[in-house]
Amino acid sequence: MKLKNFKRESIIPLPVSFISTLSADGVRNIAPYSCLMPILRPFDLICVATAGVMRDTFDNMRAREEFVISLPGVDLMDKVITTAKFVPPEVDEYELAGLEEKTSHKIETPGVEGCYAWMECKLHNIIADEYDNFPYALVLAKVIHLEVRDDIYNKEDGSWDVEKAKPLMMTESNQGMHFCTIKDMDWFEPYGAMFPNGEDPLAGMYQD
Ligand SMILES: Cc1cc2nc3c(=O)[nH]c(=O)nc-3n(C[C@H](O)[C@H](O)[C@H](O)COP(=O)(O)O)c2cc1C
Repeated sequence: MKLKNFKRESIIPLPVSFISTLSADGVRNIAPYSCLMPILRPFDLICVATAGVMRDTFDNMRAREEFVISLPGVDLMDKVITTAKFVPPEVDEYELAGLEEKTSHKIETPGVEGCYAWMECKLHNIIADEYDNFPYALVLAKVIHLEVRDDIYNKEDGSWDVEKAKPLMMTESNQGMHFCTIKDMDWFEPYGAMFPNGEDPLAGMYQD
């Protein structure tokens, strides 16, 4: 079946993250963001796509040049809409959503307690543009502290237990967002399998 071209994101399963920021005045803000992607395997850069207007998150990213991406499990599903609602910038969205802050290690901005992983980020670059007269931006940030809940992480091989973490994901339909999670297929391929000599040139980088 042929779909309208703009529906491209509704057939890509998307992660749901909480991006936390502080305003210039120190007000705590949280917003759900799904348009995010890591940039290439050896880098520590992450890219967030944001509307260029009506986003306190974007204003705060520019003001403070730092933010935290917290990755929730499905148990925080009911906090998504509370944090997505438009509220004035002076509203503390931790209080609004009944979420606790997780103190960050390298930056002042806190993360969200109860998630399964956290990325403390420093602004790297902003690519601001307009599409059909609508402003948007790609925010590139450097992850300067990455942390995962101990109970879902296997220190030996760096794998993590998706059945336990139950990462919150979503798909979209004409009416809205359908929340879901992922299933481990118990199928493994080493990175080296992509290379002619079977060796992963980045293999030495992985041990935490
Ligand atoms: C599941 C979900 C994912 C979202 N992903 C994005 C996104 O990737 N980029 C974006 O600009 N807005 C996204 N939004 C919309 C913002 O979360 C929403 O506009 C929010 O009010 C922004 O809050 P803020 O003004 O505190 O930044 C998403 C909303 C939901 C519910």
